[in-house]
This record gives sequence, structure tokens and C-alpha cells, in this order.
Amino acid sequence: MPTPRIDQILTTRPQGQAIQVQAWVRTFRSKRFIALNDGSCLANLQAVVDFESMGEDLLKRITTGACLRVDGKLVESKGSGQLVELHVTDLSILGDASADDYPLQPKKHSMEFLREKAHLRMRTNTMAAVMRIRHAASFAVHEFFNKEGFYHLHTPIITSSDAEGAGELFRVTTLPEKAIPINEEGKADYDQDFFGQKTNLTVSGQLEGELGAMALGKIYTFGPTFRAENSNTTRHLSEFWMIEPEVAFADLEDNMELSEAFSKHIIAAVMDRCKADLEFLDERMQKEEQLKPQAQRATMGLVEKLQFVLDNPFVRCSYTEAIEVLKRSKPNKKGKFKYPVEDWGMDLQSEHERFLVEKHFKSPVILFDYPASIKAFYMRMNEDGKTVRAMDVLFPGIGEMIGGSQREERHDVLVEKMEAAGIDPAHLDWYLDTRKFGTCVHSGFGMGFERMVQFVTGMGNIRDVIPFPRTPGNAAF
Ligand code: 4AD
Ligand code: MG
Repeated sequence: MPTPRIDQILTTRPQGQAIQVQAWVRTFRSKRFIALNDGSCLANLQAVVDFESMGEDLLKRITTGACLRVDGKLVESKGSGQLVELHVTDLSILGDASADDYPLQPKKHSMEFLREKAHLRMRTNTMAAVMRIRHAASFAVHEFFNKEGFYHLHTPIITSSDAEGAGELFRVTTLPEKAIPINEEGKADYDQDFFGQKTNLTVSGQLEGELGAMALGKIYTFGPTFRAENSNTTRHLSEFWMIEPEVAFADLEDNMELSEAFSKHIIAAVMDRCKADLEFLDERMQKEEQLKPQAQRATMGLVEKLQFVLDNPFVRCSYTEAIEVLKRSKPNKKGKFKYPVEDWGMDLQSEHERFLVEKHFKSPVILFDYPASIKAFYMRMNEDGKTVRAMDVLFPGIGEMIGGSQREERHDVLVEKMEAAGIDPAHLDWYLDTRKFGTCVHSGFGMGFERMVQFVTGMGNIRDVIPFPRTPGNAAF
């Protein structure tokens, strides 16, 4: 039977009414006070037991992690720290948690330790707060696009294309592990595979998203994406969730505006709906900052940082201007960058992006008009013949949050760009058809959802904002 959730109980006026709760024990102290949590909110419900009437055997089983059903009367609390408490009249153990081997004890565990116990870590205050905020952010994504007249398009997860052309693909095959059929070229014969061709997990829903935008006007995708990139950083996952809006008749300027409004909507929604969880994570972050040397400490608390981003326009800066700023910068002159900034045309590394955002502009920055040579084939060529209408939105502490562009809508130019990138136009004839039949100016971008959750929670490692992270060498749980 569903019982009221603790978040509801904690905001109910206590009048001695009978209430039943089902929840897990966080702590049990003085044989009298049980802190109960059911995941509905950060706060625990204090249940007060009369240990004399309970019996030692039952008391012994009230251990951290055990699952209880408790009947009691809701009364005003005389103790400090909570407004209401439950005076227990009946208690049963639904599930024991042996005190000897339950891994989560009421003390601080390191995030590294908790990653190894990912099947249990959502029971900690930190991970539960992050998961509730993740939910609020996900809901805000759909809310924003629905309000703006976009349609949610479900693009395929198994595909035969490499949208980003970077070749970081996870193969999908049902060919037998032993005795793989071989073709005339001596390679695996994917003609005999499940789909009759070589397939992989998608790296982006963009190409199909563009087909949707050319019919429905404004669409967005929100799905898992997979990249077999050997990046062991605090900002990369092998499986992550990406949000990709695509808009017909929108140019790069419109795209920048959309990316800013969208980012701000998510931040505002989380600030509005997850106050207690945010304050908890803010305190946690400030404590962690105290452990760092003064010079490396964040200058703002979490909530303050989020408010700052909401209150200020994102800075817009062309790639060319950014290179000038970087060339003249102190760390470049003093040889502090691992990759010195010398020539126009180089790809920006995360050290450069972080300098621009955290030291120079001190605000989220939209960089645009990148050299064509360092960006994907589908971006629109500028009149200068060397830059494309690309944009990256960079965030403090995160780096690249969003990557997008105005798309190359001219059939002949797109074919040329594909050939230059070594992509066989025949393989993407369906994509080229959008340029053949009723083409128009259009734009879109992709936001890494976990990077946004990292930003709004202040978590240092992307592996701690997704329940079960997939990274090189790790696919447990
Ligand atoms: O910049 P990316 O590669 O762009 C695209 O995939 C385009 N098709 C998007 C579009 O225009 N529709 O990826 C977009 C975003 C990045 O800015 C980053 O936030 C995130 O996806 N991202 C990752 N997040 C976590 N782990 C990874 N390995 C990521 N790779 C990209
Ligand atoms: Mg990118």
C-alpha cells in the first residue's frame, strides 16, 4: 500500500494524527531516535521509539540501511532540527541490512569509494540530491521546448552513419564471435550481419534531427549517445545524454540566442525547485574548496554562481578574437599553456577555453566562426571561404557545454565539404536529399546533459552525475 512520502509529511501540520511511513534507516541513536529517509527529499523524518516496549531483538535490527514500516502519531517536535516527529506505535522491519557488511556507514565516504558501490550510492545524501536535481533538469528540458513550440523527435540509437565523422564508434553486430564471415577484401562481411550493413551506436541524433526540422520546423532530441573515445577526464563519458534542438529558418544568431535562453531556463528551474538540495550541495562544495590552496578556490558559492549566470548575458566572441586574446595572455607569454597559442587555425584545448571563461571574460562565452578545418563537415561555410558558422558555448568549471552551428544548406557546397572530409556522399544520400528538396537556412546545437547537471550541482566529476557511468574500462552495474 502506498503511504505518504516524507516530503509531504514534513510539511503537514502535526495534530497527533495517525500516519504510516515506509522508508530506510539513516541513523539510529540513543535507542530512541530513528532518522528515516525515503528519497522524496533531503530531510529525514525523525521517528521516536519507546525502547522499553520494543524488545532488544527488534531494536538490534534497526540499523543503517534497514527498511522499515512505521505507524505512529505525527506531533510537534520538541527537539531542535525538525518541526515534526513521529511517535511510533508500531514498527516492522521490511528488510534487514546487516550492520556488519552494509557498505554505507553514517560517515563521509569518498566519491571514489561510492563509484565502486554505484548500486547503493543513490542512498547517500549527495547522490540522492544530484539525482533529484538531474530529474528537475530533465523535466525543465522538455518544459522549455514544449513551451517554445518544438516537437520531441525520437531519433534512432542504432545507425549506419557517423554524424560527427570522428570515427569514435561502438559497433553493433550479431555476427558470430567465432568464424566471422569474410568478404572478398578479407574483411568482416557486414552484408551478412543483422541489418545487412555495418552499424553502430549513434554519436548524435543531429542528421535525423535535421530531417525532422525540414518537416516539423522545430524539433529536439533527448537521448543517449555513445562515443568510443579513450578520454579519461572529469568531463567525458562513453555513454552520455545529449539534447539536440534543430530549427528551420534559424541562422547562427538565432541559434546563439536559443542556446542562452535554454541554458538559463534549466538553471532557473533547478534553482526554483531544488532549493534544499542545492543548498546542501553548495555547503558540500564550499567545504571541498576549503581543502584546496587559496589560489585554486572557486570565487563563488554554487547558488551564487548560478544566479550570476542567470543575471548576465553570455559573452560572444569570434574564434579569431579569441586567438588574439589568448596570444596576448599572461599564461601564453609565460609559457604556462601546455599547447602554446601561436597560429590562427589551431584547435582550442580545454586549458585555453578555461582561461577565456574563468580568467578573461569571467562569464559563459559563446565562441563562433571557427576555422572550417577543425569543425564537422555539415557546418555552413562563411563568405571568407575559411571559417564556418560554428558555435561552442563554454561554461566556467566545465568548458564546452554546447556545440552547434548553422548548417550548410547549399547542396553543391555540402557535397564538396563531404568529399574534402573523406565522406562518401552516396552513403548520406538521404541527408543530401534535404538540400535537394526544399532546402532552407537552418541551425541547431547539442548540449551534453551531464555537463549541465555537473554545472548546476557543482560536482567535480561527470561520473557522479549519472547513476551508472560508462567510461573506458568500466561498464559495471
Ligand atoms: O560538440 P559535439 O560533438 O556536437 C555534436 O554532436 C553535434 N551533432 C551537436 C549538434 O549540433 N546537434 O557534442 C555536443 C555536446 C558537447 O558540447 C558536450 O557538452 C557533450 O555534447 N559531449 C559530451 N559529454 C559527455 N561526454 C562526452 N564524451 C561528450 N562528448 C560531447
Ligand atoms: Mg564539440
